[in-house]
Amino acid sequence: MVRAVRATQVEIESAVQALRNGELVAFPTETVYGLGANAQNPAAVVKIFEAKGRPPNHPVIVHLDSPRYLHRWVREVPEAATRLAESFWPGPLTMVMPRAASVHDVITGGQDTIAVRVPAHPMAQQLLTAFGGGIAAPSANRYGRLSPTRAEHVREELGEAARVILDGGECQIGLESTIVSFEDGGVRLLRPGSVTATQLREVVGELVSGADRLSPRVPGGTPTHYAPTTPMTIVPAGEIDAQADAASGGARRVAVLAQRLPLRAHKYVTWINAGRRPESYGRDLYANLRTLDKAGCQRILVQAVPDGERWQAIRDRLLRAATSVADSDDGTGSTAVLP
Ligand code: TXA
Ligand code: MG
Repeated sequence: MVRAVRATQVEIESAVQALRNGELVAFPTETVYGLGANAQNPAAVVKIFEAKGRPPNHPVIVHLDSPRYLHRWVREVPEAATRLAESFWPGPLTMVMPRAASVHDVITGGQDTIAVRVPAHPMAQQLLTAFGGGIAAPSANRYGRLSPTRAEHVREELGEAARVILDGGECQIGLESTIVSFEDGGVRLLRPGSVTATQLREVVGELVSGADRLSPRVPGGTPTHYAPTTPMTIVPAGEIDAQADAASGGARRVAVLAQRLPLRAHKYVTWINAGRRPESYGRDLYANLRTLDKAGCQRILVQAVPDGERWQAIRDRLLRAATSVADSDDGTGSTAVLP
């Protein structure tokens, strides 16, 4: 159901009040819901870590309503970042830059950098503008779990931990923002998202891909993240029906996330056809995995998605959520699962 994407004045005022009181506020962005705290109140930011069960040295993104106060958070804005901000802010892009001296360690995990994003969602913009400061916010899920793309997911994940949950309906992108960092004049893609590598290259030229040992930590980069609790396997595209049959039967129920309808009826299988368009597949991915996670199945099988850049962020999240990747039996009909 599509809900109005603007909050009432009363809702915004109570959210702003909660932030000023050092409490947590969950809010929608166009990517996923965030769990926010006043970024200038370290005690409030600590509550985020407690609510998520997230290790304390993992840095969080600071959200701003526009780049106008960027210098309060960032010591020196790289030239490439200025150009990226002009092209993609407000929007689903996060930039890791040198931190300003006044930024609290609890935000940065003690690193010399800070991640900043200007989200485009109208309700996030309302909140940020009314609050007037930076809001520190990771995704509003428990550590390692699927990010929430609807307000009810936030309630499921965090219960009463958020003093206010602003309900902006379904997130339109559904996957976390693209993250880049800057080093020696180069731009590194740390986390793929809906702003693609090609779009970034059009603005900054060359791009260094992937996090390396010298890069800042990205906990989303550790295995089994963004994950359902049911074990999940990625299956070569052409084998999804056969593998669903093989893995199910009797008490063994299997959940399937596919890109088409089943070729035949499967008795012990819960099947979701997420379609062939990366935009809607990505938008619905976490909600679909939540549904399948609750279906009482022993395993979730995911039909491998196509190669190509438009599927890159989806492939990345599927690989992190999966506990295993099945080999192709016959070497045919499979599509690559690696980014
Ligand atoms: O779409 C999004 O980015 C959502 C919405 C709410 O903005 N936020 C989000 O936050 O996904 P989180 O914390 O779940 O993921 C942000 C990632 C984490 O992996 C974190 O480690 C990384 O960004 N990060 C934050 N600050 C960083 C820094 N200074 N250097 C490197 N990575 C950083
Ligand atoms: Mg997260």
